[in-house]
This record gives sequence, structure tokens and C-alpha cells, in this order.
Amino acid sequence: MKALVTGGAGFIGSNIVRHLLNEGHVVTVLDNLSSGYRTNLSPFPQVAFIEGDVRDAATAERAMRGVEVVFHLAASVGNKRSIDHPLDDAAINVLGTLNVLEAARHAGTRKIVFSSSAGIFGELKTLPIREDHPVEPDSPYGASKLGAEKACLVYSKLYALEAVCLRYFNVYGVNQRYDAYGNVIPIFAQRLLHGEPITIFGDGEQTRDFVNVNDVVQANYRAGVARGVSGAFNIASATRVTINELARLMMAAGDRQCPLEYGPPRPGDVRHSLADIGAAQRAFGYQPTVDLATGLHEYMRWVKGELTV
Ligand SMILES: NC(=O)c1ccc[n+]([C@@H]2O[C@H](COP(=O)([O-])OP(=O)(O)OC[C@H]3O[C@@H](n4cnc5c(N)ncnc54)[C@H](O)[C@@H]3O)[C@@H](O)[C@H]2O)c1
Repeated sequence: MKALVTGGAGFIGSNIVRHLLNEGHVVTVLDNLSSGYRTNLSPFPQVAFIEGDVRDAATAERAMRGVEVVFHLAASVGNKRSIDHPLDDAAINVLGTLNVLEAARHAGTRKIVFSSSAGIFGELKTLPIREDHPVEPDSPYGASKLGAEKACLVYSKLYALEAVCLRYFNVYGVNQRYDAYGNVIPIFAQRLLHGEPITIFGDGEQTRDFVNVNDVVQANYRAGVARGVSGAFNIASATRVTINELARLMMAAGDRQCPLEYGPPRPGDVRHSLADIGAAQRAFGYQPTVDLATGLHEYMRWVKGELTV
């Protein structure tokens, strides 16, 4: 098939591109390189790369020509970034998604697989979290992802465009770089690499459901090739780990030690997170395969430059 990956120069997108090519598909990437890296695509010269913005309707239409499945990842990513730059979330995540949907409709694209986020849930009320958990996002990011999800599902009702929205929990893995809005695993990895203390907010007994990027790729691929499936699905490992345990696992995975420091809890952080992934298992056979210790070992090798992809 011919696939378009918006945000394909980013962390998750570049891993999807690799898998699509390995499976023999033809791939176009649309990315404005705002948080992605052209070098993530250097191993794949066969990719048609369009440097452009999903906010530009004409660019989205051009990228979509002849595309059977679009994997839509381009976004302004993260809660903290959205609190600093809330208009980006409306413009890129909501209006940009509408541009992608319009382009898909005009091009006769069969399916959109949209990268949503567990951030749509907001304060967690029940565990494990099922898809029918209340959606009360507490950041502009979560609100924008929820709006974009709804737009995708509306298009799947109105037009011949299947739409699968994948609500990722905490994704980690190769090509995930440390930045100002970084997630906990890249931050801990940087501290370990430089022998600096790791700071944990609160007592470290809060839990998270970390999912390896290879499993997120699997979910995207299975959702993309499945026929007649639309809806919103949790994508996670369905296991949880405390942040204290995560720090220990990362020290073991990286074969480095550093002291742990404890700071005050961060306002707005949820205490526990754990997904129910039964719906994705039933709808398109999603099955996580990478356990955290193995995934962290691979990630630390990549961070240390011992693993090239
Ligand atoms: N990483 C996570 O834990 C996580 C969790 C939940 C959801 N997600 C979602 O997964 C998707 C990918 O996230 P990621 O972690 O790979 O982040 P990323 O920042 O590495 O990837 C986003 C990509 O989109 C591109 N982009 C941003 N704005 C664009 C625009 N206006 N036009 C074209 N391209 C644009 C960036 O350059 C980048 O390559 C995002 O939609 C994100 O919201 C990620």
C-alpha cells in the first residue's frame, strides 16, 4: 500500500516509517521538522519526504495523493508545552487534523490512524482505565487531542474513511530524544549518562504504564491494515511500574548508578496509571510484546550510542 506518515521525522513516526518499509510499503512523510529530525529518516532514502506543515491545506492535499492509509502523528506534543503555547494545540492538533481529514476525504484514502493520547482522560477515577472512562482533559493538549479524535470519528461516520484513534499511554524507546518538554525516561537517561542525581517528584510510589515504541508501531500497523474497524482504543503495556522501580530498572539497564533525590510532588500529576487494552486486542489483535526491562536495555544502548538503527 501507499502510506503517508505525518510527523514521520519524529520519535514514534520514524519507527512507524521503518516498519512500513520493512513490510514493503511505499511511504511519504510530511513533517515541518519543528520537533522531528531529518536524520531520523537518513536510513530510508526511499521515503518521499515533504517538508511542510499540516496547517497548510494545499500541502496536506499534495502529500495525500494516492494514499491508502494515513498515519497522522504531526502534533504539538505534551501537556507542559501546551500550557506554554496553547494556540499551537488548537492550530496544529485540531485544525491541522481537519486539513488531514479533508485531504484524505478528497483523495479517497481508506483509513486514518490518528495518534491520540491518554491525556484526554484527565484526572483518573478508576483503574484500569477503559475507553469509556470519563474524558475530562486538564491541559490544552488533552483537549486538542480529544477534539481531533472526535473529528476523525465524525469523518468515519459521514464519509467512506475508516478512523482509528490510538490513545497512547507513556511511550518510550529508540529515537526518543531528551528535550525541554521531555518525558521521564529520556530525562532519567540523560542524568544517568552524565552521572547526575535523578530527581523524583513526590515519594516515587506513583505508577505509570510505559509502552515500548515497537508495540506502538505494531498497534498502528495492525490498525492500518485492519478492514472495517473504526473507533478509539487504548494503547499501552497494561502493566504498571512505580517511578522508584523505573529508576532502578534504568540503572540496571544502563549499567550505571546515580543517587536519587526527592522533590515535592508536581501539581497536576496523576497518582496511578494503568490501561485496559482489551478493546484493541479484540478489534485488531494488538498484543504488547516488549517487557520494560528489555525495552529499557535497548533504549540505554541507543542513548549510549552503542545501538544504531
Ligand atoms: N511520546 C509519547 O509518550 C506520546 C504519548 C501520547 C501521544 N503521543 C502522540 O504521538 C504523536 C507523535 O509523538 P512523538 O512523541 O513522536 O513526538 P515528536 O515531537 O517526536 O513527533 C511529532 C512530529 O510532528 C512534527 N510536527 C509538529 N508540528 C507539525 C506541523 N504543524 N506540521 C507537520 N509536522 C509537524 C514534528 O516535527 C515531529 O517530527 C503525537 O501526535 C503525540 O501527540 C505521544
